[in-house]
Amino acid sequence: MNSNRLEISRLIGSYKLTQILATACKMNLFDLLKDKACSLNELTRQTKANPRRLSRLLDALILINLIKKVGKAYKNDPAARYLCENDPLTLKHFAIMSGADWYWQPWSQLDQAVKSDRSAFREIHGTSAFLYMEKSKIAADQFHRAMSSNVRAVPTCIRRLINMKEVKNILDLGGGTGVLGIELARVFKDTEVSIGDLAHAKSFSLNRIKKSGIKKRIEFIEVDFFKPIRGRYDLIVLRHILHDWSDKKAIQLLSNCARALSKNGKIAVIERVKSKEDNLMTVLTDIEMMVEMEGGKERSKSDFLSLFKKTKLRVGAKQYFSPIDRTIFILTQ
Ligand SMILES: C[S@@+](CC[C@H](N)C(=O)[O-])C[C@H]1O[C@@H](n2cnc3c(N)ncnc32)[C@H](O)[C@@H]1O
Repeated sequence: MNSNRLEISRLIGSYKLTQILATACKMNLFDLLKDKACSLNELTRQTKANPRRLSRLLDALILINLIKKVGKAYKNDPAARYLCENDPLTLKHFAIMSGADWYWQPWSQLDQAVKSDRSAFREIHGTSAFLYMEKSKIAADQFHRAMSSNVRAVPTCIRRLINMKEVKNILDLGGGTGVLGIELARVFKDTEVSIGDLAHAKSFSLNRIKKSGIKKRIEFIEVDFFKPIRGRYDLIVLRHILHDWSDKKAIQLLSNCARALSKNGKIAVIERVKSKEDNLMTVLTDIEMMVEMEGGKERSKSDFLSLFKKTKLRVGAKQYFSPIDRTIFILTQ
């Protein structure tokens, strides 16, 4: 019985870990300890923190196995690479966004979201998350940085499902900062890539395109999912888009995409898929969608198939699945 109580106390206290991780990332602690061990004095100097308080934060990071103490110096545990800025699989900005007040506060209104069909985000901010980002540069910045990791494997996975020789132009719809769009252009050298998103993503995306070294084949276009999409595309990629929306909105979005496909055009839907042997991560993201997004939810494979059935699109028999890259469904007209 005592161990159950202890476990429940731990669960209740999990919010502290979110903020500890967000704070350590905001202070760039893992970047500072990436290549060398540092003393408390050195870390204090670099972070401008109060040394006694910083040492308490470091003690917490030691207990959760992200930092080690060697003599009097601190250094990263290998796991901390995922919280460093330049790691290709970095979660640093996801940690920072998760602890940021605009993203964090809505969690206090989860009960309102459960009782209604509104997001908790709307209870706090009076608007939807994406409209909020149109006004708040900080929120847009934190959100787009958080979304910008872990795309390297996607083009290879797409190539297993589609004959890419037939694809001359790609639209990465809801492509945010362009990190995936650029990777697609880099791997599929004979294609032109458009990154479509709302205005708040434009400057991040243009910046990245400029630095990509292949800017001639990549453009940013301002697009609204729910308005007609200009142009005709051989491939439209929707990565982590449908889970932000209700079935009604997702159908509207897919139908808009269908109208923007070329004759043999295809849509690649990349999403987490809920399963019976579900891991806690997907269930928690499902709750996160209820908190942050208007009508957003994670779906099971059968939820996806019945959603696609309500559009005029057909689902390819082959799907790709990987725990990191999610599931990829290919839809055709
Ligand atoms: C969850 S993020 C996914 C970003 C990216 N595809 C990825 O895989 O990391 C959703 C994206 O959809 C964009 N978005 C939201 N509402 C939109 C709309 N009405 N029209 C176009 N883009 C929209 C957001 O700005 C954001 O970049």
